[in-house]
Amino acid sequence: MQLENRVAFVTGAGSGIGAAGAKALAFEGAHVVVTDRDRAAAEAVAEAIVQEGCRAEPRTLDVRDDTALRSAIADSFEQHGRLDILHSHAGIQIEGKLEDVEVEHMDASWALNVRSHFVAAQAALPAMRANGAGSVIITASNSAIQYDREMIAYCTTKHAILAMTRQMAADYAPENIRFNALCPGFIDTPFNRGFEIQMGGRHKLEDYIANAIPMGRFGTVEEIADSIVFLASDRSSFMTGHALVIDGGECI
Ligand SMILES: NC(=O)c1ccc[n+]([C@@H]2O[C@H](COP(=O)([O-])OP(=O)(O)OC[C@H]3O[C@@H](n4cnc5c(N)ncnc54)[C@H](O)[C@@H]3O)[C@@H](O)[C@H]2O)c1
Repeated sequence: MQLENRVAFVTGAGSGIGAAGAKALAFEGAHVVVTDRDRAAAEAVAEAIVQEGCRAEPRTLDVRDDTALRSAIADSFEQHGRLDILHSHAGIQIEGKLEDVEVEHMDASWALNVRSHFVAAQAALPAMRANGAGSVIITASNSAIQYDREMIAYCTTKHAILAMTRQMAADYAPENIRFNALCPGFIDTPFNRGFEIQMGGRHKLEDYIANAIPMGRFGTVEEIADSIVFLASDRSSFMTGHALVIDGGECI
């Protein structure tokens, strides 16, 4: 097991990539604090981990609440005496181009896709410093390194969080606290419902995927979870400031 005795804190862990990552971290031996704004979803994921004989605890957390986010991370450190891995994952996708997106939607995108990662990483820093090491994984997207059509709020904020990840990586590399950006392409989760509607339904989305993705398919959450474990573990010990793209070749 690659993560024995480590403690991981995951946001947006009640569904999709966050849930699969939380499970994979736990199956590699980490104790995982499974957080989500949806209490039942966080509980179900933690329960599934415990049922497999691994360690997890659920916590309700909306990452837009700075105080709650800071205290959840601080509580976890206090309770477990360490924090090795932060996977700051929750995000939002608002479709549309410049003339379609309301200022409030741009602000909402910024709050979740940039600001919440800033607050989470800042809160995790003292614990990782005390440990002499840490791995912070921030979910960006392949939209952080390419430009989509009619996705101004998403693309802008995902580019911004990659910039912030690299800046933090440069600043904290001397302390062995690593920051990497997870950059998935199309992964089949409820997250794509908005884009599915924008495309004109599931059928249209599947046609689009078959044509636009060189590998001709969606990725699975398990394929992303493998990369989460890699970034969390010592197997990536010399990797920081990296944008790990897993997208079936979409942005080639
Ligand atoms: N699925 C994809 O195709 C894809 C591709 C690239 C990047 N991403 C990124 O992955 C993240 C989510 O994707 P997913 O596929 O896991 O989605 P998902 O919809 O399956 O799960 C998202 C989870 O986040 C939770 N959540 C939403 N807002 C929250 C908040 N304010 N505070 C706490 N939890 C909140 C939801 O309750 C849900 O459990 C986003 O950052 C997204 O940009 C997804």
